[in-house]
Amino acid sequence: MKLDRLYNEDCITGMARIPDASVDLAFADPPFNIGYTYDVYEDQRAADEYLGWTKKWGVELVRALKPDGTFWLAIGDDFAAELKLIFQREMGLCCRSWVVWYYTFGVNCTKKFSRSHTHLFYFVKDPKRFTFNTDGIRVPSARQLVYADSRANSKGRLPDDTWILRPQDAKESFTSQEDVWYFPRVCGTFKERAGWHGCQMPEQLLGRIIRACSNPHETVLDPFGGSGTTLAVARKLDRHYLGFELSENYADQIRTRLQAVHPGEPLSGAEEPQVSGPATKEGKCIKRNAASASYAKSKQTTTRKENVLWAGMDREGSPSPRKKGQA
Ligand SMILES: C[S@@+](CC[C@H](N)C(=O)[O-])C[C@H]1O[C@@H](n2cnc3c(N)ncnc32)[C@H](O)[C@@H]1O
Repeated sequence: MKLDRLYNEDCITGMARIPDASVDLAFADPPFNIGYTYDVYEDQRAADEYLGWTKKWGVELVRALKPDGTFWLAIGDDFAAELKLIFQREMGLCCRSWVVWYYTFGVNCTKKFSRSHTHLFYFVKDPKRFTFNTDGIRVPSARQLVYADSRANSKGRLPDDTWILRPQDAKESFTSQEDVWYFPRVCGTFKERAGWHGCQMPEQLLGRIIRACSNPHETVLDPFGGSGTTLAVARKLDRHYLGFELSENYADQIRTRLQAVHPGEPLSGAEEPQVSGPATKEGKCIKRNAASASYAKSKQTTTRKENVLWAGMDREGSPSPRKKGQA
């Protein structure tokens, strides 16, 4: 099994070829079983069938994780509770955070409250041994931004476990003074949008997860490639990546996306509300303050750690020429 590849195949058979305990971080955003229209996958199965399928891919994913590995799961309301129990109780993972990703621009319901969140479960294999790089994900605090309090930690603070999304990149946006990060859902009109996959996640959201829970040159796995966000961000952040995608069409597009990104490139989308805020009346952007500058600097500090488990296997920094089943 070669690293830095997107495989166009079923993730259960694909992950079976991954060596035991070899993946540092896995991120899975499986179909939510809500009848969403994908080009190949049928997203409306009997509940038992869906849960049985989840256990099958879950077993392979957990086996592939290193003893100090991390697993993030994105899931909708309908199956969040059951999937949390599967991974926590049946597969023995420890849930460190139950993050709620709140977004606007969601589905507009006419007969009930509109859905505006997704669950992100943050699991580790070992509750005492895991990677959590705090410096790469700090955000400016209210003490810094609002109160200019000299006692504020100049490095900022760790984000809350509710990740708020607002359309600050859109024209009708506002200037935020709050100490939260905004991850806009990647809407059809956004520059970041690849345009061919309805479930595309924002790069900044994956950026936070990958920076916090892995180090450069480590291995990031995504069994459900979709539009390839996890793999593209892993590549930009200089991680090895491994992905699977059932659809040949999506897989082709992911390969094209991966060919266009390179290690060290900035992630798409807004990282900091202040910096990404709209122009002021005077036509100037909001000035980057000390908190933002210190945050940006902290992101450049990374640890180099070799992944010995993959030694002897292919590790290519750039995607190879296209072959069936590989990128
Ligand atoms: C919710 S989307 C992932 C979106 C992705 N996180 C992104 O940011 O673009 C789920 C993807 O899983 C794919 N898929 C479904 N079953 C699969 C399987 N057994 N193996 C691999 N991919 C699968 C679907 O085709 C779909 O593209």
